Amino acid sequence: MPVITRIEDLRCIHERRVPRMFYDYVESGSWTEQTFRENTTDFSHIRLRQRVAVDMSGRSTRSRMIGEAVAMPVALAPVGLTGMQSADGEIKAARAAEAFGVPFTLSTMSICSIEDVAEHTTKPFWFQVYTLKDDDFMARLFERARAARCSAIVVTVDLQVLGQRHKDLKNGLSAPPKLTVKSIADLMTKIPWGLEMLGTRRRFFGNIVGHAKGVTDPSSLSTWTAEAFDVSLDWKRIARFKDMWGGKMIIKGIMDPEDARRAVDVGADAIVVSNHGGRQLDGAVSSIRMLPSILDAVGDQVEVHFDGGIRSGQDVLKALALGARGTYIGRAYNYGLGAMGEQGVTRALEIIHKELDITMALCGETDVARLGLHNLYVPQGFGDPTVLV
Ligand code: GLV
Repeated sequence: MPVITRIEDLRCIHERRVPRMFYDYVESGSWTEQTFRENTTDFSHIRLRQRVAVDMSGRSTRSRMIGEAVAMPVALAPVGLTGMQSADGEIKAARAAEAFGVPFTLSTMSICSIEDVAEHTTKPFWFQVYTLKDDDFMARLFERARAARCSAIVVTVDLQVLGQRHKDLKNGLSAPPKLTVKSIADLMTKIPWGLEMLGTRRRFFGNIVGHAKGVTDPSSLSTWTAEAFDVSLDWKRIARFKDMWGGKMIIKGIMDPEDARRAVDVGADAIVVSNHGGRQLDGAVSSIRMLPSILDAVGDQVEVHFDGGIRSGQDVLKALALGARGTYIGRAYNYGLGAMGEQGVTRALEIIHKELDITMALCGETDVARLGLHNLYVPQGFGDPTVLV
């Protein structure tokens, strides 16, 4: 077993272990993948301010996200098809998150259903909602999330239509994988993954199959997003979701100060600055460069969370020091899951936690709550998308 010291090590094992179409699904951005790349590379423009001879004992990364106590302000982001990276993947990831003390968000596009995850966990998780045209389906989805004791919904507002990811189309992405010469040849090199998958009955989109109407091929993400998603979604419908749900609502996919204000107006409890991991509008600015202007617009009215490009605890620290109250990891934990199942998700969380804790100490801070702009050197114009940094 290689010595795993960073998230990149998990990614390499994930790539070797999991069928190409599912690895590629995680590791894709849309079109040229510029935004996907810049989400990670833009972090390197921000430098850290080193402080010395500060008492570093008794450090704490504990905090709160939407009022819930967290071991560190890092939630597991909603990621579709997580149960294809490892058999029963969503259950494994939710259990790892629960044991670590961070929130888990289940995607509508998950393989394990809301009920499956609820049955195998003890703490409430968050449920991510995609808006389908079918109002009955939406009402039932909220009922199911309530019955599963989900403590918040995360409404994703940046995927009315699916951004084109070339690799998914070329690979014929589907869950379960369709057997073609190419996919069979690949599966033959992924025997341990295949044996695990044969041992579970969870190989379909668990929240959709048998629940949604008017979907001709529910195994294909591109077919059912094209057929079932609400292309006409607007702020009025989002406001209705808040009433239909009646609990905490996080709005994910905000990349513009004006949209941030609209999200506050409809009663969001938190917003997530996110460009969907560079998977939707390629050419959009990286999330970390948009964070300052969103904070300027609404930071005193709503909890602002951050998603996009986090591959280390240092990235988490930079987002928090800029002013985010919470962060999300998506790919980072899926690498761990694909590499080593539940243990791999725990490993990803441990790596990020350790990097956050040590970096905080070397910046002369002992508490995540006290991180701020004073810990960073941010280039002039970084938060202005019209400036080349
Ligand atoms: C779904 O959320 C995706 O990005 O594929």
